[in-house]
Amino acid sequence: QPFDLVIRGGTVVTATDSMKADVGIRGETIAAIGLGLDKGKKEIDARGKLVLPGGVDAHGHIEQLSASGKMNADTFQSATTAAAHGGTTTVISFAAQHVGMSLKTVVEEYHELAERGAVIDYAFHMILADPRPEVLEKEVPPLVKAGHSSLKVFMTYDRLRVDDEQLLDVLQAARDNKAMVCVHAENHGMVSWMGKRLVKHGYVAPKFHGISHPRLCEPEAFHRLVACAALVDQPIMIFHVSTAEGAQVIRHYRGEGLKVFAETCPQYLFLTKEQLDKPGVEGRKWMFSPPARNASDQEALWQALSLGDLQLISSDHAPYAFNETGKLMGGTKATFKQVPNGMPGYEGRLPMVFNEMVSNGRFDASKFVEWTSTNPAKIYNLYPKKGTIAIGSDADIAIWDPKKSVTFTDKMVKDKSGYTPWKGRTVKGWPTTVLLRGEVLVADEKLHAKPGSGQFLPRKGGKAAEPFGRATQEFDPKRNFGAKLR
Ligand code: URP
Ligand code: ZN
Ligand code: ZN
Ligand code: ZN
Repeated sequence: QPFDLVIRGGTVVTATDSMKADVGIRGETIAAIGLGLDKGKKEIDARGKLVLPGGVDAHGHIEQLSASGKMNADTFQSATTAAAHGGTTTVISFAAQHVGMSLKTVVEEYHELAERGAVIDYAFHMILADPRPEVLEKEVPPLVKAGHSSLKVFMTYDRLRVDDEQLLDVLQAARDNKAMVCVHAENHGMVSWMGKRLVKHGYVAPKFHGISHPRLCEPEAFHRLVACAALVDQPIMIFHVSTAEGAQVIRHYRGEGLKVFAETCPQYLFLTKEQLDKPGVEGRKWMFSPPARNASDQEALWQALSLGDLQLISSDHAPYAFNETGKLMGGTKATFKQVPNGMPGYEGRLPMVFNEMVSNGRFDASKFVEWTSTNPAKIYNLYPKKGTIAIGSDADIAIWDPKKSVTFTDKMVKDKSGYTPWKGRTVKGWPTTVLLRGEVLVADEKLHAKPGSGQFLPRKGGKAAEPFGRATQEFDPKRNFGAKLR
């Protein structure tokens, strides 16, 4: 039977290979890869283009109440539309519990929002701000079974953070249910203490946000987090690594064979702390946590990626609407502590990273695919349905024009933040046609999908989330003194 669609004459790139080939699609999946495939009912001419798996963005906040109590600027529709235009076809966003809430109710609410608006496929990490026993014992097990196989906790932010005991409770619950644990790891005391000290003396401009998150926040929290994870033998994912010292800690523990995964984000690869130092409220556009650091950290992060210590590049999309008066981000007079943290990231992630990795020749296109699509799909167990171009995989494909130059402007922004953090930067390489499960999602900068056409992706924990089998003797007292603690 004929193909529904053939992408003809392009260079197909996966995490391992790059080859001239046609891609034949039947229904929602890839049916054939080869030269000279039979004619399809429809054809896309991909000569001179790269045919890449759609991006998988494993860290983004959509329609979420932030730590500061402010709502993200986006809806599922605007956020996933922005992602689609940037070549991303799958996101894992958050279902965020706040203190006192039922996790089950929270997850149901996010399902509803996503069902209504998403134009690309999605899954959820469940944020636990209140891991009380009834949540961990009664709510988590059925929710993980229903396909939400990753939990997220914060070690900082007043309203969201867990202490070390709560962290251990979550790690053990994840182990019992075979789920991954993702962590925002910064030393809370340092951030809080520095913030109070600066504000007290009148240092309230955006640039002091950078100073209020000392670099030492990261290695301290990473050591403590990995120690807790090692105690119970539970794999973890360290979110948004920003410093060379943080990457060094991860290298150390991975070298000891611990199951520590880690991501970084474009803002840590392409921005420095100087970006916050702008007149008036302008610097608020780049007020995310942890903050951008130094040029030397950027190099250290690229190196950590190439060594495999960091495995993926996510956006940490978390937009808040910006205006010149500052009114939309906490008011004109707000101190840096009162401005919500986060910036838009879905749309720019792949073009910014492609430009540096491929167009500027830092790495090849296969590495780009590996870090932005394949590895996130593997670690969060969406592979090989997502994250590659292979027979049987979903036909989620981004056809890239490696020669197309685009300069970022605020006008082109598809999310609801009203600005792009990459304004004025010109990148070479842009996705010209994006397919989701065989259907045209974006072509020539136009969205073709209807709100709600994105599908929920239930997923089991998978290989990455499996304990290594190296629990400490203290945690596994049977080996010690025959006790039964669980
Ligand atoms: O500043 C950021 N990254 N805001 C989003 C929430 C988080 O910390 O991940
Ligand atoms: Zn569900
Ligand atoms: Zn975070
Ligand atoms: Zn985040």
